[in-house]
Amino acid sequence: MAVTLLTPLRWMGDHLAVLDQRLLPAEQHWIRCESVADVVQVIADMAVRGAPAIGLAGAYGMALAALRGDDMGEQSQRLVAARPTAVHLAWAVKAMCERCAGQAAAGWVQYAEQMHAEDAQLNFAMASHGAQLLSSGVRVMTHCNTGALATGGWGTALGVIRVAHKAGKLQEVLAGETRPWLQGARLTAWELEQEKIPYRLVADGAMAWAMRELRPEWVIVGADRIAANGDTANKIGTFSLAVAARALGVKFMVVAPKATIDFELHSGADIPIEERPGVELTRLGAQRVAPEAAQAWNPVFDVTPANLIDALVTEAGVVMQPDAQKLQALSPGMQPA
Ligand code: MRU
Repeated sequence: MAVTLLTPLRWMGDHLAVLDQRLLPAEQHWIRCESVADVVQVIADMAVRGAPAIGLAGAYGMALAALRGDDMGEQSQRLVAARPTAVHLAWAVKAMCERCAGQAAAGWVQYAEQMHAEDAQLNFAMASHGAQLLSSGVRVMTHCNTGALATGGWGTALGVIRVAHKAGKLQEVLAGETRPWLQGARLTAWELEQEKIPYRLVADGAMAWAMRELRPEWVIVGADRIAANGDTANKIGTFSLAVAARALGVKFMVVAPKATIDFELHSGADIPIEERPGVELTRLGAQRVAPEAAQAWNPVFDVTPANLIDALVTEAGVVMQPDAQKLQALSPGMQPA
């Protein structure tokens, strides 16, 4: 099965082209990034988003820094600070520095491109493992966008859904809208439509009721950072879904590459949670919806405790009921369990 060619990032030889996801699905506009400052801006402003895609943007940012002859240590710190929760950004920038230090710019570019291609391949491996957990004729629920747009290609949780659809197993996807950025309503719906995968959108506030009334077999989500004990940070709203799923007997699956596991963090309490400006809640696009003086609290990720996760799927396979001991087997240098 060929890996989809849809990608949010294109290396153009001397610059990085970034698909502006803020404008999708209405408009396909590519932003030209020529420097680390440009890449930091597209990450911080969420023109590119999704943990693996942010990491790859960071890798290409380092390639741009090498091409420009910048101070690599300084630029790596700027990149890593662009968004705090997804560990892929720090992971990819560190991998670039470890692998390419002392090389000419062409070496940095080549390794960034290699990481991009490898991400798409390992997504496909994860998707195949995850799809095996699904029954035939299944209805599933997902949250945010975890597809080709959020990764180097194919997707994590949405990758599982793609493979299940191609295997003829899938009845329907229930896609949460994912306020305030509407990654579900804008991006997941767009990706599902392109592949003619049946879906219905569900308002964030209706997700628990949808579980009760429509009985999805699995809730399938991605992850931005997983602590050593399996606690998982993902898009805000994921924790509510996990609580509702456990209460209603719906199974809960997290799909993420091994690089998402941050073995330096003991538990989810240690994961930095990004808070974004309240204006993202008090306005809908340019339109103000709340009273002018309204204050808002806008954490954009939450942490789901490991004990609410039935399956963690990585490129190494499936870990049922993940915990610290089982995750240890996935740590670098260890053989998968
Ligand atoms: O704020 P975003 O859109 O970058 O958040 C994205 C998510 O939370 C995804 O679920 C996560 O990165 C996994 S995507 C493969």
